Amino acid sequence: MKIASIVGARPQFIKAAALSRELRKWHKEVLVHTGQHYDYAMSGAFFDGLEIPPPEVNLGVGSGSHGVQTGFMLKAIEEVLVSQKPDRVVVYGDTNSTLAGALAAAKLLIPVVHVEAGLRSFNRRMPEEINRVVADHLSELLLCPSSTAVANLASEGIVRDVHLVGDVMLDVLNWARQRMDGEPARLLNELDLKARRYLVATLHRSENTDDWGRLNNILRALNALDETVVFPIHPRTRKAITGANCQVAPHIQLVEPLGYFDMVALAGSARLILTDSGGLQKEAYWLGVPCITLRDETEWVETVKAGWNILAGADRERIVQTVRSFAPPNARPALYGDGSVSARCVELLG
Ligand code: UD1
Repeated sequence: MKIASIVGARPQFIKAAALSRELRKWHKEVLVHTGQHYDYAMSGAFFDGLEIPPPEVNLGVGSGSHGVQTGFMLKAIEEVLVSQKPDRVVVYGDTNSTLAGALAAAKLLIPVVHVEAGLRSFNRRMPEEINRVVADHLSELLLCPSSTAVANLASEGIVRDVHLVGDVMLDVLNWARQRMDGEPARLLNELDLKARRYLVATLHRSENTDDWGRLNNILRALNALDETVVFPIHPRTRKAITGANCQVAPHIQLVEPLGYFDMVALAGSARLILTDSGGLQKEAYWLGVPCITLRDETEWVETVKAGWNILAGADRERIVQTVRSFAPPNARPALYGDGSVSARCVELLG
């Protein structure tokens, strides 16, 4: 079978790393990069580090408003699909690239496969929520990371060809950890850090970066901490901090966005992680590092139920108090699959 996989943003490169490897054992894959992320640190570094085959097509969309970015991708993906004639189109997660890929394929009557289907925050102010709701309703094969996701789809009337498979990001993490002997020590030395004696923070959601009040509260919380905080900074966030002229205290080390291996090394040796990323909430859990989520809701509710993730929103006091008092339980039950999720996905593709 010929499969077109659509990727465009950092978390999608990570997911595709696992699935492409497995997919190419059985099928012909055409990897389409929309170009939504284009800086080397946000894109090329992941292809190189994770040994992802170079994309057959790069649409070079770049940044823009949601309409401009999605509209450009819709037109360009349609052209690729018309010329390539794939039997299926695989889309990942909830970015504008996901939405454009699903819409272009569905209109051409090419079956859409959604990896990471069924997640909901129930917050339509998030662009990602809109993207995933539409992608799910356009998909013919829905591969879900959790039973919560399966139930979410059922409550919207989507029950056909819905499968609980787990999370492909766990496959990638396991693959990377096998290759990482000695890596944490190298990175920690470079950044002059001691294992479990620092925190990691990441922030990039528009709800936090585009809302000056929330951004300011989060930065004031980080400034009020008395531990080293390593903060790999997304370009969107850097622009927001610079634009708003925010103060960042000296114990916060702003570093460029990290490649996958470095991020796993940094996160895995942290005492605690503060983030608004979806992927990092799960990685924190799998790595056994407590996570404070800088959002008011999460799609990964199982990590909260297990006691390893606490939602602190953008509430300065709550963030500071949680950093100081967070004591996760000893138990950390397996979540989101067994690390052979990609093989299961490819099996279901037929
Ligand atoms: C996108 C996804 C988000 C995902 C995130 C992963 C959407 C709506 N959002 O958010 O779900 O969690 O990717 O990182 O699709 N920029 C650069 N260089 C780049 C890419 C972006 O400088 O290589 C800057 C630009 O100023 C751009 C801004 O970041 O305007 C936002 O980029 P965009 O692709 O719109 O969304 P993300 O915030 O990265």
